[in-house]
Amino acid sequence: MNKKIFSGVQPTGNLHLGNYLGAIKNFVELHNDHHNNCVFCVVDLHAITVKQDPKELRNNIRETVATFIACGINPNKSIIFNQSAVGAHAEAAWILSCVARMGWLNRMTQFKEKAGKDKEKASIGLYSYPVLMAADILLYDTTHVPVGDDQKQHLELCRDIAKKFNTDFEVENFLQIPEPLIQKEFSRIMSLKDASKKMSKSELSDLSRINLTDNKDQIINKIKKAKTDTLPMPSNISELSTRIEAKNLMCIFSSLTNSSLEKTLEMFSGKNFSEFKDNLSEVLINKIYPISLEIKKLIDDKSYLDKILQEGSEKANLTASKKINKIREIVGFL
Ligand code: AMP
Ligand code: TRP
Repeated sequence: MNKKIFSGVQPTGNLHLGNYLGAIKNFVELHNDHHNNCVFCVVDLHAITVKQDPKELRNNIRETVATFIACGINPNKSIIFNQSAVGAHAEAAWILSCVARMGWLNRMTQFKEKAGKDKEKASIGLYSYPVLMAADILLYDTTHVPVGDDQKQHLELCRDIAKKFNTDFEVENFLQIPEPLIQKEFSRIMSLKDASKKMSKSELSDLSRINLTDNKDQIINKIKKAKTDTLPMPSNISELSTRIEAKNLMCIFSSLTNSSLEKTLEMFSGKNFSEFKDNLSEVLINKIYPISLEIKKLIDDKSYLDKILQEGSEKANLTASKKINKIREIVGFL
């Protein structure tokens, strides 16, 4: 079967090492293997589920495109576009929200985390966010969705919605049931300040994450200040369950060097953290700093970025409009 790949990233600023190692690095590998079968979407409709400043949102949309390209996605080999430019996404989301059940959405942990204590004040969009995500995926007959571990539950929901639509309207196999592509290891990168929380764009302390726009000094400083413990470096996997900060840093090192955690343990067993951190900073600088320079260069070329989005949206619209027309027909609209 020909794989069809779709994934999305929210243009909410501060794209970080977790986005890179959990998702974007995988996008790059996939698009090299599956020319013309990958769609990467800047999900601006998802971004406005929490308040956004319009000027910042525009900048963040362009910065996300610049990041995709700086990380190695070639816009001639895959489609890069912004979600709001293809009307079928919002339309399909509405129709699918009449298929999805409240009980299913009530289980979504990301909503509970993002809404916090005062659920009554969360937007309706934040609640129905996973239905829009399902629409994104299903409009393109997607077979595989590369995402970080935190999106697993949303993918399950998407599969349930697709199955229910196919059953309710008696259209077997009409909506393709997608498979998640979640890396077995290193699919959840944690905060540098508190390894019980995932590395996140919205965390107040910038020291908690490596941004893809960080310069060399910022990377060195953040790794120096990253939380560790006072023991020497761990020497076996079983020790890592109680030393989560060490584990996170070693996972980052392993993922960046494409090696196993076992190998990293072997390399640094019994050494002190400062030696390990010097090595980690070096691999981070080698990988992230060139990306950072490229983002900064691309971000100044607004017309180039806008042209990529324009062309990408036109291509995406060709596929999405065909699918939404069939959906309309199936549902019974004239
Ligand atoms: P978002 O920034 O929420 O739109 O996420 C974009 C992609 O990055 C999604 O596939 C997420 O699963 C992934 N991602 C975000 N944060 C992390 C993290 N800390 N570790 C691994 N993957 C992540
Ligand atoms: N919800 C995803 C996130 O926050 C972003 C997203 C939106 C997405 N639509 C998608 C990811 C479709 C994969 C496929 O990370």
